[in-house]
Amino acid sequence: MLYRLFRSVIFLLPPEFSHHFILKILKIVNFISLLKVKDIKNEKPIFIKGLNFKNKVGLAAGFDKNAEHMQIFENLGFGFLELGTVTPKPQSGNKKPRIFRDPKNDALINSFGFNNVGIYKFIDNIKKSKINLVIGINIGKNALTPYEDSINDYIACMREAYVYADYLTVNISSPNTKNLRDLHNLSDLSIFIKSLMIEKNKLQKKLKKSVPIFLKLSPDIEKSKIKPIIDLLIANNIDGVIVTNTTIDKSKISKPYQHLPGGVSGAPLKIKSEQMLSTVKKISKNKLLIISVGGIMTADDALKRIRMGADLVQIYTGLIYQGPSLVNEIRQKLS
Ligand SMILES: Cc1cc2nc3c(=O)[nH]c(=O)nc-3n(C[C@H](O)[C@H](O)[C@H](O)COP(=O)(O)O)c2cc1C
Repeated sequence: MLYRLFRSVIFLLPPEFSHHFILKILKIVNFISLLKVKDIKNEKPIFIKGLNFKNKVGLAAGFDKNAEHMQIFENLGFGFLELGTVTPKPQSGNKKPRIFRDPKNDALINSFGFNNVGIYKFIDNIKKSKINLVIGINIGKNALTPYEDSINDYIACMREAYVYADYLTVNISSPNTKNLRDLHNLSDLSIFIKSLMIEKNKLQKKLKKSVPIFLKLSPDIEKSKIKPIIDLLIANNIDGVIVTNTTIDKSKISKPYQHLPGGVSGAPLKIKSEQMLSTVKKISKNKLLIISVGGIMTADDALKRIRMGADLVQIYTGLIYQGPSLVNEIRQKLS
């Protein structure tokens, strides 16, 4: 109720400004110790892929792109955080305005394009933080790197992030970096994944640490192409998938927003994300960890994803529309 009131004021401000503004407010609230992790009765940690998740609710990538607000999200009750997407070099992303709200449909449309401080500053931020949560680092390519050289950017990020990550997410599914989603093409993906895993194995030997690798997939893949992709990931020992990123399908948002560039998140993504989860679950036969994300707007939505076979869930747009209490509502529902 209180958040609804707060939201009606915040929604009068431009979305990108209000994102930073809310994080500033939360930083102050956190600094004066008003944010504390709530205990949830009967909540059990989840041990999977060698990682100890405090609970099944994660922060989706893109909210804390530069690893600057980890303490806030830990205190809001998240069981794990996915930070980034980070690229080798810093970049400012696409032209503003690059995020829009469609409140009638509980949706966001964003075309950020991996604005971030670059992997070196990002890792400095992680080094400074004192949180005790599973940390996923989501890596991507710089906009100016030619498509054929994409793998070099992912390897560069992997080398810097490997020591500090509990898991690494390879993001090939943002619609806001030109041609990025072409990496879903089987022949390109096969070469890409093999090179990635060669590097992972080198790092594993050198640093004596095995970091699980997850691939974040698009919800817009043709259904017939999902099985070959999943089979390829399993054959190459990828540990898990994150389904899904935003969709370029604008048919479920209000007319004035349909011409905008970028990806749609929130309620209009729900069905696509659920369908993808269900297909991937069937095909992967428990050989991949599955994180479900996309259109989880209520605790019941999250419970449904777990019942459909997701190991973990992540939220982004739900946090904007329902407020931070959604995290604890989901924890409660899942415990
Ligand atoms: C403003 C915004 C920025 C995002 N940035 C990233 C990103 O940098 N990397 C990424 O993998 N996903 C990014 N995403 C996608 C989310 O992580 C998530 O997959 C998607 O929004 C679907 O979940 P939701 O419906 O709960 O928002 C972003 C989403 C939004 C709305």
